[in-house]
Amino acid sequence: METVKIGIVGVGNIGSFHMRNVLGGELKNAELVALCDSNPEKLDRIQEQYGDQFKLYDDVDNLLADPEVDAIIISTPHYDHPVIAIKGLQAGKHVLVEKPAGVYTKKVREMIEESEKHPELSLSLVYNQRMNPTYQKAKELVESGQIGELRRTNWIITNWYPPKHLLN
Ligand SMILES: NC(=O)c1ccc[n+]([C@@H]2O[C@H](COP(=O)([O-])OP(=O)(O)OC[C@H]3O[C@@H](n4cnc5c(N)ncnc54)[C@H](O)[C@@H]3O)[C@@H](O)[C@H]2O)c1
Repeated sequence: METVKIGIVGVGNIGSFHMRNVLGGELKNAELVALCDSNPEKLDRIQEQYGDQFKLYDDVDNLLADPEVDAIIISTPHYDHPVIAIKGLQAGKHVLVEKPAGVYTKKVREMIEESEKHPELSLSLVYNQRMNPTYQKAKELVESGQIGELRRTNWIITNWYPPKHLLN
């Protein structure tokens, strides 16, 4: 398979995690070619640390106009997910959107409708717990009917979000 050249939009907590994963070779056949963040201080910090290893953009439209970028990972705050995804698909890029898909159902529907116009492109969402054995077991229990019909679920996570300085 050919190498997929990736651009990351939004290099905060999770965007920098994606960045390190691609740079660390965690994604096969993927190469990081561009990063975009609307905060110029972040771009300066990245430039200091990584030099000219990849292209840096402060505006997503400029990243999307870059013909070298095949696919984008959107890790901006929620509201912009469908907005940037639609632009990305229109620019001919494959799109991986961080969860949640968006904040408004209408915008998410528009994003899905746009992706249906581009069957040659992938639109996908980060399902970050899908491979977690705990949730796989929970799904199995629910589907087996052992605990009856679900009426309500509460999901309490107490060990996420370490201090920001450990993530950046
Ligand atoms: N899958 C997961 O496990 C997981 C974990 C954490 C966060 N998330 C999701 O990722 C998204 C980002 O969360 P975060 O904690 O990394 O936030 P964050 O605030 O740390 O990072 C967001 C980054 O996006 C940049 N940004 C904002 N608007 C932009 C735009 N229009 N163009 C370019 N850059 C822009 C900001 O400057 C910032 O650097 C959220 O939607 C969140 O729900 C997913």
